[in-house]
Amino acid sequence: MHEQTFAGRHVFVAGGSSGINLGIARSFARAGANVAVLSRSPDKVQQAAESLQALGAQALGISADVRDAAAVEAALRQAQQRFGDIDVLVSGAAGNFIAPAAELSPNGFKTVVDIDLNGTFHVLRLAYPMLKKPGASIINISAPQGVNPTLYQVHACAAKAGIEMMTRVMAMEWGAVGVRVNAISPGPIADTEGMRRLAPSPEALRRATETVPLQRMGTLDDVAQAALFLASPQAGYITGAVLPVDGGAALCGGRDMRSSYVPRSAA
Ligand code: HXC
Ligand code: NAP
Repeated sequence: MHEQTFAGRHVFVAGGSSGINLGIARSFARAGANVAVLSRSPDKVQQAAESLQALGAQALGISADVRDAAAVEAALRQAQQRFGDIDVLVSGAAGNFIAPAAELSPNGFKTVVDIDLNGTFHVLRLAYPMLKKPGASIINISAPQGVNPTLYQVHACAAKAGIEMMTRVMAMEWGAVGVRVNAISPGPIADTEGMRRLAPSPEALRRATETVPLQRMGTLDDVAQAALFLASPQAGYITGAVLPVDGGAALCGGRDMRSSYVPRSAA
């Protein structure tokens, strides 16, 4: 993707203070965008904004919890006041852990669904009045769990499957005004919190990699390049798509997390 493709554009990244989503925020910053990142931790959003400014971008870090609709709306308004209406919206806030359904409390299940699925609805629904114009683009972040039943991941599977269906429905409802809605489904991405939680040992990392047809973990840049493409005019006729960026991992079915499970009483 050419440098400065997004010069002066407003890119808002929910969950953008670390990992894959910060990688996406950085790529848009390098492409000239003004970038707002939202997450819970005031320290993390501050550091993320500074790292984006160090790339030459105008950047804003906003502390809010995506489970709190009023806080999300206030954060979006703050970003709109600073950078104007939103051109690209990325929704990637998520929480996850390995847990068998029979050991998962109702609040444990609810917490992941609230962050991933309800949080994504809050972000999209409340941002819509600020981005409903031709050319605007939304990218949700899913996971292979969204299509592949995965042992000890009932919470993440349910939440990400919901996000993928929400992507399709919003694409249908908002297409008429020219807003495209897509999702990226990353596979195992190296050096991320997600992999630290889901593949917490060298053996688990080896297993996660050997089942990937391309025989390697993904990088932050692999995902960021896909996000730049989906938000670009080159993807102008793509909406409602869920793009796997996973080296083919999802083709091989859901991973078995059982051997990585550590009961919390033993942790
Ligand atoms: C079982 C657990 C648990 C665990 C928490 N809970 N951790 N249950 N096993 N390991 C339960 C708690 O007991 C509680 O239920 C409920 O979940 C809420 O827990 P809190 O700690 O109060 O929640 P909160 O402070 O809101 O934190 C949310 C969180 C936390 C999801 C639990 O881990 C978090 O903040 N995660 C954000 C970072 C993250 O997960 N990044 C990775 C995303 S990766 P009770 O009943 O006790 O009240 C990802 C990978 C996708 O999504 C796929 C990769 C291939
Ligand atoms: P990460 O670094 O933990 O990213 C999660 C982000 O969401 C953080 O910025 C976190 O910051 C924020 N967040 C969490 N709960 C929030 C809440 N309630 N409100 C607002 N922000 C919240 O993890 P990651 O591994 O890079 O994952 C990023 C995305 O990629 C997620 O959607 C994940 O499901 C997806 N994914 C990851 C992988 C992988 O290999 N890592 C694979 C497939 C899909 P705070 O703690 O400050 O809130």
